[in-house]
Amino acid sequence: MKKPAVAGLNANPDQIFPYDRPAIERNTFYVGDAINILRSLDEGVVDLTVTSPPYENLRNYNGYSFDAKKILAALYRVTRKGGVCVWVTGERIKGSRSLSSFSHAFIGKDVGFDVHDVMIYQKKNTPFMRSNAYTNCYELMIVFSKGKPRTFNPLKEPTVRHGWETAVYNKGPDAVNRKRPVELRKEKVRTNIWQYAVGMGGSTSDKVAFQHPAIFPEKLAQDHILSWSNPGDLVLDPMCGSGTTCKMARANGRHWIGIDISKEYIAIAEERMCTLGLLL
Ligand SMILES: C[S@@+](CC[C@H](N)C(=O)[O-])C[C@H]1O[C@@H](n2cnc3c(N)ncnc32)[C@H](O)[C@@H]1O
Repeated sequence: MKKPAVAGLNANPDQIFPYDRPAIERNTFYVGDAINILRSLDEGVVDLTVTSPPYENLRNYNGYSFDAKKILAALYRVTRKGGVCVWVTGERIKGSRSLSSFSHAFIGKDVGFDVHDVMIYQKKNTPFMRSNAYTNCYELMIVFSKGKPRTFNPLKEPTVRHGWETAVYNKGPDAVNRKRPVELRKEKVRTNIWQYAVGMGGSTSDKVAFQHPAIFPEKLAQDHILSWSNPGDLVLDPMCGSGTTCKMARANGRHWIGIDISKEYIAIAEERMCTLGLLL
């Protein structure tokens, strides 16, 4: 497979984009500060963003930092009307909670997004224990939208019981339960709490991805891509790290753009994309 294009490698992230503003290509990785690079993207071209910002000082990502308000404002500008931006965020828990993940929901609202939903990403296995509180096992997935979402393909899950059953349908004034056969559906629309295994074989089977300190599961990215976009749409991850969103966008027939400030992480993303190319 032809290697995916990587623009801006070896460039100073502060310098390349503000000056010459090259057109942004689809299906390409970019190295640099997302705020700068997003300036080169036309307004309203992105159908869906699935991203996860750095979690305060939980990881240091080679010392890079980010500004939630500037990135969310830039994302609002590039999102098309009816487009969605899924923002997956955890936070520092040191003594007490910083609540930064909740504050991002308000920041998103301030820059113009609607908070369409606040979903939970529950980790099936989590090593993070606190001695004086219950083990934290979730992160928020804030689903921002630019107006009413234009796409919603609800994911379904199997019901526990299905087939024909005799069930109560009416209790009359005589207090007698009337029963009749009803057909229980095989599937129901999922709730907004999504559960995933994390770690090797859970988040992904790509060994190289674990060179990044904080990947989210491929299935999480895929489930949002299937829910909020259609084949041929453009999916963005402006802080793509190991490239999970971009890989799953491509695997599901969407166009993609990946940006990260670290060229080491983009190298990982590129390698994952090449492996995918061999499988498709
Ligand atoms: C939580 S990680 C994303 C991980 C990704 N979802 C994955 O599955 O691999 C956050 C990423 O944001 C990147 N980052 C931090 N500040 C940035 C900025 N200003 N512009 C672009 N990327 C940035 C970090 O390098 C890091 O890879």
